[in-house]
Amino acid sequence: MKKLVLLVAAAFMCASLAACGSSSNSSSSAAASGSASAGASASASGSTEADEPSTTDGGTLTMGTNAAFPPYEYYENDHVVGIDAEIAQAVAEKLGMELKIEDMDFSSLITAVQTGKIDMVLAGMTVTEDRLKNVSFSDSYATGIQSIIVAEDSEIASPDDLQGHMIGVQESTTGHIYCSDDYGEDSVVAYTTGANAVEALKTGKVDAVVIDNEPAKAFVAANEGLKLLDTEYVTEDYAIAIAKDNTELLDKINNALKELKEDGSLDEIIGEYIKAE
Ligand code: ARG
Repeated sequence: MKKLVLLVAAAFMCASLAACGSSSNSSSSAAASGSASAGASASASGSTEADEPSTTDGGTLTMGTNAAFPPYEYYENDHVVGIDAEIAQAVAEKLGMELKIEDMDFSSLITAVQTGKIDMVLAGMTVTEDRLKNVSFSDSYATGIQSIIVAEDSEIASPDDLQGHMIGVQESTTGHIYCSDDYGEDSVVAYTTGANAVEALKTGKVDAVVIDNEPAKAFVAANEGLKLLDTEYVTEDYAIAIAKDNTELLDKINNALKELKEDGSLDEIIGEYIKAE
């Protein structure tokens, strides 16, 4: 429902802004031109001109992510692509910096930004009170909904039905945290990636997977015999995480996000990956 509102807003903004459409093409090709080596890091060239390297005056802006979370971040050949990669690219361009992408376990991201290994996290990361104790968050750029995937013939039809069943989650995600709180640690199995949790569901090791709605849709589409329940478990806000002491970067990122929201680029990037139903 929220998404629909977002898309309607995007359509409205496109209709009302003549310039809508010009900026995300360049960011899309720039993000797609990033290259990842050995599955560990991907660097997206910030160039919008064919031959000119992007200005590196502002240095390198390193984004940490966990690139197994379509449509926000995933691999296309060797490149990390997706909504977060493109937003990060657009932010880097606004800051006159060159974007580099580091792919790592989701559970390592907060420490990586705290210790300065990366400058920011874009990973469909939800703003939570607990995380706010360790990092700062930018303004929100998207909404997520914790959703439930089950086998097509499952008797589980709502969050309440999860009681007494084994639930697969991605380690350290909000799905992991909420399910452990609501159904007890013993009912929850944490996997390194959402894809691994889905694999466990397919082989009957768990009875359900709790994960964000858009990746959930992607996993259901890619795997036969699964369905997504249309009941919402928890609704949450995604934002960019930054080290607490890096208030300068936080301000710059919020300004860049504001501009990207105002000129329609943000909605356009999201609309490229999430189609209206
Ligand atoms: N929104 C959830 C959270 O913040 C899940 C994010 C998982 N992201 C990823 N790139 N694997 O905990």
